[in-house]
Amino acid sequence: MDNNPLWYRDAVFYEVPVKSFFDSTNDGTGDFNGLRMKLPYLHDLGVDAIWLLPFYKSPLKDDGYDIADYYSIQPEYGTLDDFKGFISEAHALNIRVVADLVLNHVSDQNQWFQDAKKSRDSPKRDWFVWSDSDAKYSGVRIIFIDSEISNWTWEPNTKQYYWHRFYSHQPDLNYDNPEVREEMKNVIRYWLRLGLDGFRCDAVPYLFEREGTSCENLPETHEYFKEIRKMMDEEFPGTILLAEANQWPSDAKQYFGKGDEFHMAFNFPLMPRIFISLARENSFPLINIISQTLPIPDNCDWAIFLRNHDELTLEMVTDEERDIMYNEYAKLPKMRLNLGIRRRLAPLVDNDRATMELLNALMFSLPGTPIIYYGDEIGMGDNVYLGDRNGVRTPMQWSYDRNAGFSTADNEQLYSPVVTNPNYHYESVNVESELRSGSSLLNWMKKMLRVRKNYSELLGRGGIRFIDQKNRRVLTYVREYKDQRMLCIFNLSRRPTYVELNLPEFRGLKPLEAITKSPFPRIGDLPYFFTLPPRGFFWLNLTVPDHEDEKDFDD
Ligand code: BGC
Repeated sequence: MDNNPLWYRDAVFYEVPVKSFFDSTNDGTGDFNGLRMKLPYLHDLGVDAIWLLPFYKSPLKDDGYDIADYYSIQPEYGTLDDFKGFISEAHALNIRVVADLVLNHVSDQNQWFQDAKKSRDSPKRDWFVWSDSDAKYSGVRIIFIDSEISNWTWEPNTKQYYWHRFYSHQPDLNYDNPEVREEMKNVIRYWLRLGLDGFRCDAVPYLFEREGTSCENLPETHEYFKEIRKMMDEEFPGTILLAEANQWPSDAKQYFGKGDEFHMAFNFPLMPRIFISLARENSFPLINIISQTLPIPDNCDWAIFLRNHDELTLEMVTDEERDIMYNEYAKLPKMRLNLGIRRRLAPLVDNDRATMELLNALMFSLPGTPIIYYGDEIGMGDNVYLGDRNGVRTPMQWSYDRNAGFSTADNEQLYSPVVTNPNYHYESVNVESELRSGSSLLNWMKKMLRVRKNYSELLGRGGIRFIDQKNRRVLTYVREYKDQRMLCIFNLSRRPTYVELNLPEFRGLKPLEAITKSPFPRIGDLPYFFTLPPRGFFWLNLTVPDHEDEKDFDD
């Protein structure tokens, strides 16, 4: 493995649930050996790091985010040796692996909670948050509004309520208890010793509770993560922390601290605004949100994503923005869940190839580390008729064979049906077919990841400067790092359009289109003029001062 200390800034991540990728035992559920067998695919795709969804022992009522034992692996996913084999083979391919870590809550099946609810005197009692009244911390928002009516649930044996920010089967841990804080550090040490490169920390804003507050983003929470960071820097240098903090920009940014808290945080503020900008065909929401989310400390980065395993969350947008999103992207009530939209990328944009390319090109060129959700690289569909968020967690589509090549189990045995909707059927939307077709989305994604790798420092670490121009339908910015520069131009609208750019500082340069290396005319005194097809974009390399040696088509 390379020893680049800023590896997470230059990387492209790939999010994958173990159960969904490849089933090596033919029991209908994916496993670590299956994932190991598919590492060459991920390497060939060009990803640098994998984010594993929770794989710990769990009753799977919240797909593993309900952990029953932090020190063991869900049996269907394999053994500890399978896990270690997977990690070492990933490392041999220079692919790092970070895993989900659920700190805020456990499964009610966890022995800690089982002990705690035996009696009020249980040594584990204080590991959870109890109250005689469900009016405590009143006003704290409920997150899973479609399934929960309170953050408190009555425990009949000991006759008190326990606190939970998510499902009622997920009691929150009490971080005021020093034993809890220490135990979670031990969990972290345990998995880092086994070779993980870091954690995606689940639900970080909610660790502590204080009366009279929203019980989110409290100073105590930041302090605790700083302690964890310090411990990791000292004991496991090179490992990282990635925060899932779905918050408004000013609160989300706090998770970087002064470069001494999280290395990365998901850019939740940006994600819905990418889609809003497209729906409104207007660059303003994007420019506005990016301006609010920067700057951040140099050793930190945002993680940019288009979709993930959850609903496309609309908690932190205005009511007007949410309406725009629902009207454009979730026309059927079935497509909505909680305050969000449970759809994959391809169906969200009506399977429009140009829009998928535009969105990915944005994700790969905006400041931050891109995270691809498994299957989105082949344009997989979803199934909104499966409950909860299961419609976006169906088996990976490898080929047109039985069960999409995911498993040779009987199809009734699969953990989830494969997608068979004619527009996204696995018989055509699958890795094998797409690898054979030069014009497939998968081959386009591979090409883009190769291009991005050529510019990994510029796009991974560079600054961003928006270029002022009159056409709001077009987003224009320059990425800059040391002496490298890339001009990026995106037509957010469904119509062809044009844009005129005043580029006096680049006068005399000849832009080189970065993906095909096609030369563009020299920048002169007049405004530089571009025409763009619907949802078209350009990445223009301005680094080479002149490329007279390259053949122009009119030479
Ligand atoms: C995860 C969800 C999960 C929730 C509760 C999150 O934010 O991404 O999938 O249901 O935490 O653990």
